[in-house]
Amino acid sequence: MKLTLSILKADVGSIGGHTKPSERMMDAVKSDTADAVRRGLLIDSFVGHTGDDICIIASHTNGPDNTDVHQFAWNAFLHATDIASQYGLYGAGQDLLVDAPSGNIRGAGPAVAEIEMDHDPVKTNPMRPAESFMVLAADKCGPGAYNLPMFLGFADPMYCAGLMLPRIGEGFTFNVIDMDNTDGDSLISLNAPEDYYKITVLLRDNERFGIDSIVSRYSGQVAAAVSATRLHNIAGSYTGKDDPVALVRNQGIFPAPEELISPYAKAHYIGGDARGSHVMPLMPVPINTAVTGMYCLPLVSCIGFSLNSRGEFSDSFADFFDNPAWDYVRQQAQEKGIAMRSQGWSGAAMLPYGELEYSGFRQSIGDLVDRFAFRDGNGTGGEIPEKAASADD
Ligand code: 13P
Ligand code: MG
Ligand code: MG
Repeated sequence: MKLTLSILKADVGSIGGHTKPSERMMDAVKSDTADAVRRGLLIDSFVGHTGDDICIIASHTNGPDNTDVHQFAWNAFLHATDIASQYGLYGAGQDLLVDAPSGNIRGAGPAVAEIEMDHDPVKTNPMRPAESFMVLAADKCGPGAYNLPMFLGFADPMYCAGLMLPRIGEGFTFNVIDMDNTDGDSLISLNAPEDYYKITVLLRDNERFGIDSIVSRYSGQVAAAVSATRLHNIAGSYTGKDDPVALVRNQGIFPAPEELISPYAKAHYIGGDARGSHVMPLMPVPINTAVTGMYCLPLVSCIGFSLNSRGEFSDSFADFFDNPAWDYVRQQAQEKGIAMRSQGWSGAAMLPYGELEYSGFRQSIGDLVDRFAFRDGNGTGGEIPEKAASADD
């Protein structure tokens, strides 16, 4: 059968600041999702949260960008928004940026990552005798948070020795999106390994270029999809950070989970953190972790499922970062965070003004720039980069 996996995620309110959704909000989304399974819209589902973002993971046969599936998710997020408002939670409805999207909800605020695949997991299927996949969800993160770890997992044998094997070794096509192009989805396809250096030229800029999807050159099958969009580009004004989700198929013709997650041992620095304005390390955490540590460290969770022939999820999931091995990395991330924050607002510790997500900062610098003048009294000040228009926390 043609099976679609859909990841739909939104921040619609949280307790005591941007920490985590409430139990009542989670229950509402879980019960709406269970209802969608009961009435046959979805085959199976899972709901979890990473920081203050609620993530719905669903399997179904309706294809990507399906109106019914997207509208169900939107309504579930609205339901949770109502509860958040009722209990006075912070940022109720934060990521629901339009009044009522008519069809699919891409561009309306929630993060979406979807893959459609031929699903026939039998031993004799040479491509996918079994289907297993991982879902990554990141909070307090800029849109390109996965650029480096995904690149290493799919293109660098130092992380994925599987690339030395015949089938995986044919390489992967990286579809990269220019997130600054707000006229539409502007993409380029580059092939690893031939275009290795060209891919890095783009992916080094986590704020502008993001991986949209990765395709196996051996099989033509989509290996990964990422929700690479920027809320402040969609909305015209900033209302939240970008907090991307990713769907990654693994094993067999794709890299193994351990090859895909080992780059997260770097706890690499990305844009995000408090007020979406700092450069801080990405800390791997178990699913359903709240953002309550010092600062507001960018977090990423990663859970894995198997699918049976009917498209149902395994009865439980593997929580990849819920393992003592990652305690060491968390410690390192914390140390890197402390080191970076010890220089406060200076230089590389904060994002450049053009990338700041809280335009209040840009207003502050704009007011000062306006007051600059040449020594001789003629002429006025310079300009600040035009990105976010107006919004505050
Ligand atoms: P979220 O985008 O996760 O709501 O974070 C907001 C923020 O800036 C916290 O400082
Ligand atoms: Mg929030
Ligand atoms: Mg969030």
